[in-house]
Amino acid sequence: MATSPIVTAIIYTALAILLLLFLSSSNQPHSRHRRLKLRPPPSSSSDRHRPPIPFDPIISNIEQKREDRQWERTHFHLDSDGDDHAPGHEAQPEWEDFMDAEDYINDEERFNVTHRIQLLFPKIDVAPADGFASADELAEWNFQIALREVMHRTSRDMELHDKNKDGFVALGEYDPPSWSRRDDEDNTSSSYNMGWWKEDHFNASDVDGNGLLNLTEFNDFLHPADSTNPKLIQWLCKEEIRERDQDKDGKLDFQEFFRGLFDSIRNYDEVHNESDTSETAPAKKLFQDLDKDNDGFLSEDELKAVIGNLHPSEHYYAKQQADYALSQADTDKDGRLTLTEMIEHPYVFYSSIFNDEDDDDDFHDEFR
Ligand SMILES: *[C@@H]1O[C@H](CO)[C@@H](O)[C@H](O)[C@H]1NC(C)=O
Ligand SMILES: *[C@@H]1O[C@H](CO)[C@@H](O)[C@H](O)[C@H]1NC(C)=O
Ligand SMILES: *[C@@H]1O[C@H](CO)[C@@H](O)[C@H](O)[C@H]1NC(C)=O
Ligand SMILES: *[C@@H]1O[C@H](CO)[C@@H](O)[C@H](O)[C@H]1NC(C)=O
Ligand SMILES: *[C@@H]1O[C@H](CO)[C@@H](O)[C@H](O)[C@H]1NC(C)=O
Repeated sequence: MATSPIVTAIIYTALAILLLLFLSSSNQPHSRHRRLKLRPPPSSSSDRHRPPIPFDPIISNIEQKREDRQWERTHFHLDSDGDDHAPGHEAQPEWEDFMDAEDYINDEERFNVTHRIQLLFPKIDVAPADGFASADELAEWNFQIALREVMHRTSRDMELHDKNKDGFVALGEYDPPSWSRRDDEDNTSSSYNMGWWKEDHFNASDVDGNGLLNLTEFNDFLHPADSTNPKLIQWLCKEEIRERDQDKDGKLDFQEFFRGLFDSIRNYDEVHNESDTSETAPAKKLFQDLDKDNDGFLSEDELKAVIGNLHPSEHYYAKQQADYALSQADTDKDGRLTLTEMIEHPYVFYSSIFNDEDDDDDFHDEFR
C-alpha cells in the first residue's frame, strides 16, 4: 500500500520542524549557568596582557573605584600605621567591595543586562543613527570608554609625581617606573630598554615648551602611541630605530628590520599572505611597502605607517574588541549589529564565567 505523497510531505515537514526546534534550543546560551565577572585590577602599569575594555560605563566605574582603592592602599597606606587614609575615603576591605559589586551586577532585578543594552544602543548607534551598530561605531564606543579609563589613571599618576602640587609634572619630579629600568628577560618587547623617561621624551611631550607637563601632556608622555602630538610620534619612531640600528646610520636596512622589528609588528594585514612560502618573503614585502622612497632603508618617517602596530594603541584594542563582538554576535552576517542581535548575545559584551562545573551555585542562588 503506497502512502499518499501528501502524508509523506507532512511527516517530513514535521520532522524538519522538530529538528529546527531542537537545533535552535540547543543554541540558546544557558544564562542560569553564567555569572558576570569583574576584571581583577591590573597588577602594574607594565601589565602587557591587556584586559578587555568594559562595554558598560557602570562596569567601568565599579572597576575604576576598586582600582582606586587598591592604588590608595599601595601609595598612601604602606608607610603609615593605617590612619593616613586619603581624605574622604573610608577604608574598606577589598574582598567585600568585590563581592558586593559582583552580586549587584549579577542581580537581574538591579542590573538587567537586556535593559542596559537597550539603554546603551542609541548611544553607540550615532554615526549615523540608523538602527545598526557598525564596526566603527562599536570601536568608537570602546575607544571612548578606554580613553576615560586611561585619563583617570593618568590623573592618579599625576598626584604621585607632581611633588609640589602645582598641577604640572616637571622632569625632575618624575621618577621613572621600575619597569622602565629593569632588564627584563623578554627584551624583544619594544617597550623595554628604550630611551623612555629621558629628557627628549619629556620635551617631545611638552607641547607648549614651558618645561612642565599638564594633564594632557603627561597623559601623552605616558601613552605616546595614543597621542596625536606629531613630535611624540616622531620621537617614538626615532627610538624604535635607535634600538635596532646596529650600524648607527639612523635608519634600518632589511636585516636590521627583519631581525629586530618585523616580528613585533602585529596584525599587519599584508603579513598574512598564505601564498608566500619563503620565510623572509612577507618581511620583504612589508619592507618594500614601507620603504616609500625605495632607497633600501626605513627612515623615521617611513616607520610611522606601522608605529600603531608596534605600540598597540587604545584605538587598536578598541577596534580589535569591536571586530570580536561582530564576529560573535552578527547573526545575519551583514557586518553590523542590530539591537536584537546584541540582546541575544549579552555575554559577548559582558564578560562572564561559566558555572557549569559547579551546579551547587544554582542551589545557593535560591537563598540569596
Ligand atoms: C529586564 O529588562 C527587560 C527589558 O527592559 C524586561 O523585559 C525584563 O522583564 C527585565 N527583567 C527583569 C528580571 O527585570
Ligand atoms: C636579550 O637578552 C638576552 C639574554 O639576556 C641577550 O643575549 C640578548 O643580547 C638581549 N638582546 C637585546 C636586543 O638586548
Ligand atoms: C629640552 O628642552 C629644554 C628647554 O625647555 C632644553 O633646555 C633642553 O636642552 C632640551 N633637551 C633635549 C634633550 O632636547
Ligand atoms: C595642556 O597644554 C596643552 C598645550 O598648551 C593644551 O592644548 C591642553 O589643553 C592643556 N591641557 C589641560 C588639561 O590644561
Ligand atoms: C600574496 O602574495 C602574492 C605574491 O607576492 C601576490 O601575488 C598576492 O596578490 C598576495 N595576496 C594578497 C591577498 O595580498
